[in-house]
Amino acid sequence: SSDPLVIFTPSGKRGNFPVGTPVLTAARQLGVDLDSVCGGRGICSKCQVTPSVGEFPKHGVTVSEDALSEWNAVEERYKSKRGLIDGRRLGCQATVQGDVVIDVPPESQVHKQVVRKRAEARDITMNPSTRLYYVEVEEPDMHKPSGDLQRLYEALKNQWDVDVQRVEMNILQDVQKVLRQGQWKVTVAVHLGDHLRRPKIMHVWPGFYEGTIYGLAVDLGSTTIAAHLCDLKSGEVIASSGLMNPQIRFGEDLMSRVSYSMMNEGGDLEMTRAVREGMNALFVQLAAEAGVDKALIVDAVFVCNPVMHHLFLGIDPFELGQAPFALATNESISLSAHELDLNIHPSARIYLLPCIAGHVGADAAAVALSEAPDKSEELVLVVDVGTNAEILLGNTDKVLACSSPTGPAFEGAQISSGQRAAPGAIEKVEINPETKEPRFRVIGSEIWSDEDGFSEAIATTGITGICGSGIIEVIAEMRIAGILDASGLIGSAEQTGSARCIADGRTNAYLLWDGSADGGPTITVTNPDIRAIQMAKAALYSGARLLMDKFGVDTVDRVTLAGAFGAHISAKHAMVLGMIPDCTIDKVTSAGNAAGTGARIALLNTDARREIEETVRKIEKIETAVEPRFQEHFVNASAIPNSVEPFPILE
Ligand code: FES
Repeated sequence: SSDPLVIFTPSGKRGNFPVGTPVLTAARQLGVDLDSVCGGRGICSKCQVTPSVGEFPKHGVTVSEDALSEWNAVEERYKSKRGLIDGRRLGCQATVQGDVVIDVPPESQVHKQVVRKRAEARDITMNPSTRLYYVEVEEPDMHKPSGDLQRLYEALKNQWDVDVQRVEMNILQDVQKVLRQGQWKVTVAVHLGDHLRRPKIMHVWPGFYEGTIYGLAVDLGSTTIAAHLCDLKSGEVIASSGLMNPQIRFGEDLMSRVSYSMMNEGGDLEMTRAVREGMNALFVQLAAEAGVDKALIVDAVFVCNPVMHHLFLGIDPFELGQAPFALATNESISLSAHELDLNIHPSARIYLLPCIAGHVGADAAAVALSEAPDKSEELVLVVDVGTNAEILLGNTDKVLACSSPTGPAFEGAQISSGQRAAPGAIEKVEINPETKEPRFRVIGSEIWSDEDGFSEAIATTGITGICGSGIIEVIAEMRIAGILDASGLIGSAEQTGSARCIADGRTNAYLLWDGSADGGPTITVTNPDIRAIQMAKAALYSGARLLMDKFGVDTVDRVTLAGAFGAHISAKHAMVLGMIPDCTIDKVTSAGNAAGTGARIALLNTDARREIEETVRKIEKIETAVEPRFQEHFVNASAIPNSVEPFPILE
């Protein structure tokens, strides 16, 4: 054809178009992802492109200076008023005049990629459920009587092919005023709906709305509530914050909260109120930090364990406290913010991921979405370490899931000098196998205890205790240095030749730090400490091992440690303890807060919601409580590293 050839990068899509075709039109026809909020009226600048000039042997074209039309008045006005980056054109105004190569920068793509920092993680493709549309609405006419709202619906249908027929009362109350204020030009935020809900107008602004809209990704844990505030246009996290779960005053762990609601009339509702209030406080904090109006938060995704899920929704968690651990519902849930008393945009869409089973919640589903074991060729074990460990094992063939009651020892509870991970806590430990002398590092300082400047650094943080990752390291190091035997007993001073092994009742303890001369704490690792960690790690390992039995394998290709705690565990030490199955050490990686990331994926990409619902339906649930082999694995895994399983990696 003699029509000019238009080639878009990075997609590589190409086609011939008559002279005078707007670039945006060409992009639309080729299915190139080029954004537009104003529908080609030269207002929004979302359609920006960068045309190139010169030889393109790869594409077989030469592009001349005048391949695109001269600047028209609309484009000139936009540039002089708001400015455009050098070399950029408005795709809706510039028209094709000759063969041309046109680059669509990431900001101009609707389905842009939000890049995740880890090599093994998928990028997130933007596909938010709520979008902005600028429309021009027909004015009322006595001869063709119709409601203002109906003409707004029509405009959305004709100009954007968006079929809306639902609106909340607050929009209906405002719509006439806003339409006239904007002189029949308005920007509309539309929740496009999903398989659960039909499209719906969320908000209407007079004229062209310059700003953006926001969403929340919330990881509602039993100890902390963590949330990301995200820009729904760019996908960026603009503020992140966390808060202690106010339900802690009703019980430290989940089961004590379930029993609180059993013992106290209305106790479940008290806890529901507390968690929603906490959540609202967190949202205020996030909005303030980002300088954003809370009413612009139009979408939110929540992930949580089953008990938190029920208490958040106002469902009595009674059934979750006893076998057979029946959930009120295991499917995903979609509702409005006002139904949960959440103080954001009143009709903001709230989405809760599906639960996998009575013990394996929407948080585990979120981990599955983030880590995608079902898309891995390699057999991957994903462990989210908390007071309950959620464990997933799978590959493209199938995925199995279970949870295992590890208890709070990994968080520093039940440990004599244990504490939460905070400045002053010992987090890294090495013990010299010859001298049995320790060196360590505390949170808040980069300096090891045997280096010059340690005392100076410690003067600022102090030494207050030992955190979960520190206790794992010290116990593993004690085992390597021969201070500790496989059964978990600490040797005496004579047996080990170290004066740090001190008698402690009928057993021995290892003295890690004596700060008594300065009035500081004395930090020892006692036999009960070792027991607590043995129980916790045995629970974790046996859950993983049980899934391996069910899968019919003795080894895994890859281990991913998730959760705030998981991010800090050293792979080597976890393996020396026999906490995770033997695996090549560089195949053990940390995923950080994978549940929170899963929530963010579901927030930014509405298709991911359907994807995880399908995945969860296919995940095979294993209930550890009824599996006799779990007990057997548990007994074997109490030894360090294990009484029967080989750990060749340690050789
Ligand atoms: Fe809005 Fe081009 S599409 S300025």
